[in-house]
Amino acid sequence: AKRIGILTGGGDCPGLNAVIRALVKGAILKRGWEVVGIEDGFDGLLEESKMRPLGLNEVRGILPRGGTILGTTNRGNPFSYPVEKDGKLEIVDISDRVVDNISRAGIDALVAIGGEGSLTIALELMRKGVPVVGVPKTIDNDLLETDVTFGYNTALETATYALDKLHSTAESHHRVMVMEVMGRYAGWIALESGIAGGADVILIPEIPFSIEKICESIERRRSRGSRFSIIVAAEGAMEKGGNRVVKSGPDLRHQVERLGGIGEYVSRRIGKCLDMDSRVTVLGHLQRGGSPSTFDRCLGSRFGIKALELIEKGIFGEMVCLRGTEIRSVKIEKAVRRLKLVNPRGQMVNAAEELGIMLGR
Ligand code: F6P
Repeated sequence: AKRIGILTGGGDCPGLNAVIRALVKGAILKRGWEVVGIEDGFDGLLEESKMRPLGLNEVRGILPRGGTILGTTNRGNPFSYPVEKDGKLEIVDISDRVVDNISRAGIDALVAIGGEGSLTIALELMRKGVPVVGVPKTIDNDLLETDVTFGYNTALETATYALDKLHSTAESHHRVMVMEVMGRYAGWIALESGIAGGADVILIPEIPFSIEKICESIERRRSRGSRFSIIVAAEGAMEKGGNRVVKSGPDLRHQVERLGGIGEYVSRRIGKCLDMDSRVTVLGHLQRGGSPSTFDRCLGSRFGIKALELIEKGIFGEMVCLRGTEIRSVKIEKAVRRLKLVNPRGQMVNAAEELGIMLGR
């Protein structure tokens, strides 16, 4: 019999529990395997007390629940782990200990459910001899080699719903409403929710924006009789020729510190060139929470089953993925070589522009 370990790493995302449930059900019911749940991402590989058996009882009723029953954290990269030494923080490599713990727990295969960061760690563990299977997860949809990740669809639903709500109040008050959405370095959430929610302007990191151009387009709308406008700004969006503070790195906090958030920044700047009232809504972690959509539940469940099939065949170092309507797998290293970004000249951007949406350029 096999014993598989499951962990969820990085930011949480609707659909994680669907994957966990599928792994547990498929492992126990069809294969007679044991499942070990590892708590709090890679951190859970450091202590035995954070590993617990997962049976059918543990996954009962979790399908519609957001988040992850295993807990997660952005910490715990065993290859660069912060430890305190003489009152100072030092970054050390504790991966040998982690590899030992995995084999001591009798884990024959580790399923790592995560985004680009977690999958990179999984890949490095694989290179140290741990049999790993990856399951892609992120609301940002910025992972290569899969058409889409679960969590993204639910985030889009939330953002679209919020845009619908903003429309009625924007229209009543003749205001410009700026809605800031997540997505890190990618503009997918902004672009697709903006198209679905009927935005007038969409700002994405892949297309640096000009404030003047935005103001011109809002003025144009006004002269045609629309006395309100809706702007969707991806958190990573940047102004042309400046203010691009972060080019790489794990998050956008530097930018937030400098600009007070891109939504706030855009609203402040357009307030100077337009004689219109504007307000900002930062959607934030609402996009990550709550019950997964039908699509995400189904995709997560199918990913979980595919991961078991890979383990069964002894295929490791691969990540499950969606290609068209088929679930397949691909080498993890192919998926983590760079982020999947919006093509500024691609079909989706083109469609938005033909719909009369202004992309800030
Ligand atoms: O990667 C998912 C994501 O929600 C990004 O869209 C966002 O930039 C980041 O995580 C926020 O991270 P945290 O939960 O640490 O604030």
